Parts: sequence; structure tokens; C-alpha cells
Amino acid sequence: MINRNAYRSGPEDFTTITTVGELAEDELKRVVVHEQPVLLVKVSGRIHAVGAVCSHYGAPLNEGRVVDNTIECPWHASRFALEDGMVVQGPACAALPVYDCRIVNAQVQIKMRTENKVRDEEGSMPITTAASH
Ligand code: FES
Repeated sequence: MINRNAYRSGPEDFTTITTVGELAEDELKRVVVHEQPVLLVKVSGRIHAVGAVCSHYGAPLNEGRVVDNTIECPWHASRFALEDGMVVQGPACAALPVYDCRIVNAQVQIKMRTENKVRDEEGSMPITTAASH
């Protein structure tokens, strides 16, 4: 099986991609950052960013849906954890690229995650808020 994301990359430094006000709860928003398709979604107030292309056969994940903190592929129903891009349900077997997110002055910034961080006790990745807005 080919991993449709095998050569994906992304910004190595935090890059502004949208504003907090542009993201509605559970809305799937596709953006292109450094020529890479990225899926943004806010679930329970937390913003997540993962690759926007399914690793199975390349479906546009912005046409999928959010199910229990995962993104479900619209074509064959694979599910990927929004926290770390890992496969929760096949048929996909390769994880999605994942990006760290932070909010600075109401701007949403992301950068490519190069290593998997340890989850906190709630199983969620923290979002850094550098300034109030
Ligand atoms: S293309 Fe996404 S599960 Fe097949």
C-alpha cells in the first residue's frame, strides 16, 4: 500500500494560517501551507492540524467528518486521531502528518511536528497561548 503522505512536509517554524474567528466548532477547514494541504478543525475548543489527504487512497479529508476526536475519511471510513494523526480505524495503515498549533494574538499558527510528544493526562496535546486577545 502506498502512503499518500510519504513525502509531506510543512513549516519548520510557526506560521500564521488563519484567525481563531475563522474556525467554527467541528468545521473542517482545508488550507495550503508551504504547498502542503492541511486540515484544521476545532473540537471542544482545541484546534488541531493534520494532513488533509487520506493516507489510504488520497481522499480529501475536509469532506469527512469528526467522530470522537478523530477525522473519518469520506471514502472508506478510516479514522485518524486528531491529536497525533495516528490510524484509529483502517483500512488506512499509515498516519497523517501532524502539526503543532498555537494561538498568538488571535492568530492560529502551525508548524510541522517532527516528533510525537507525550500526551497529557487527558490524552490531549496542549495549545500554547502566547498573548491574550
Ligand atoms: S481513501 Fe481514505 S480510507 Fe480509503
